[in-house]
Amino acid sequence: MLAQVEQSTHVLVGQSPRIKNVLRMVEKLGRCRWPVLLLGETGTGKEVVARSIHNVNPVGPFVTIDCSSMVGPLMESELFGHVKGSFTGAVGQKIGLIESADGGTAFFDEIGELPLDLQAKLLRVLQEKEFRPVGSLIHRRSDFRVIAATNRDLAKEVEKGTFRRDLFYRLNVVNLRIAPLRDRKEDIPALIAHFLARHGRNHTLTQETLEAMISYDWPGNVRELENCIQHMVAINSGPLLHAAELPSMLQNHLLIKKTQYMTVAVGAHNLAKPPAEAFSHQHRDVPEAGRPPILPLNQMERNAILHALEYTKGDRAIAANLLGIGRTTLYRKLKEYQLAV
Ligand SMILES: Nc1ncnc2c1ncn2[C@@H]1O[C@H](COP(=O)(O)OP(=O)(O)O)[C@@H](O)[C@H]1O
Ligand SMILES: [Mg+2]
Repeated sequence: MLAQVEQSTHVLVGQSPRIKNVLRMVEKLGRCRWPVLLLGETGTGKEVVARSIHNVNPVGPFVTIDCSSMVGPLMESELFGHVKGSFTGAVGQKIGLIESADGGTAFFDEIGELPLDLQAKLLRVLQEKEFRPVGSLIHRRSDFRVIAATNRDLAKEVEKGTFRRDLFYRLNVVNLRIAPLRDRKEDIPALIAHFLARHGRNHTLTQETLEAMISYDWPGNVRELENCIQHMVAINSGPLLHAAELPSMLQNHLLIKKTQYMTVAVGAHNLAKPPAEAFSHQHRDVPEAGRPPILPLNQMERNAILHALEYTKGDRAIAANLLGIGRTTLYRKLKEYQLAV
């Protein structure tokens, strides 16, 4: 049942229960022509879902109408077309997006951005299946399935008066919410494999890179994950993608994770106050299940310095900065721990 969607060019990758549910809905909605409203943060895959719905039974064209670009004096002609000479610069006749979607699917991306005057005109097209090109007195017909997408809370926009209530009801016949990637982390490995196959050449990730990517929250969702893979593939010469090649947002994330790990370790050392026998060396190095081993502070400090130097590829100024100490203090400690080269 799901295979048909996967055969299409716009594959919807994922194994999480949430994505499986989306795939089931895609299959159902693809077999009828009801209006669909796709909800979700930017980059969650709303356009892929829209295309997948169309591709279940691909009748007619799939036309994307980016409502966030519908600004300025030419927007009406973009949507509805114009006749020759209807305004300065209209040297020929133009077919608008609404007309080119006839018989197929029109995908209104970022519908919440459409200005109120165009909302009224769109409503008329949806109700009457009729529109008038700019400068024309003659009505033309266009009949299409509507899929709209937004990352806004349209019900709130209706209350504020920035989105027409009647248009909202027209579009919101069935709505489908695509969860942010941080709420379906099970999909991350499959998405990585998918984008490596698309953008990479036999590239693989180190365990550290994979772990960083799984624990990161991806505010830009799948789009950010795809960009991350493209970035690493572009800057890497070998086939193994290391954590040091991750984009800066993930580098920061990795650093925070490591700092937290060290704080937990230091905190355990300071706060645990174990009985005297716990201070024996045997106990010190035996980690409790799931907890880092408790090490002497000077050893942790030495490890943290080594780690920072490895991370910055030997750059002492950046290492000192990351460790939160001055450069002279770092030099002194390097000497103290006999790390100075
Ligand atoms: N589940 C998914 N499987 C495969 N690719 C995906 C998936 N979700 C998103 N993408 C990819 O991520 C990018 C952003 O998706 P898009 O549909 O444009 O997001 P949105 O419209 O919600 O902003 C696109 O390149 C798309 O191909
Ligand atoms: Mg989009």
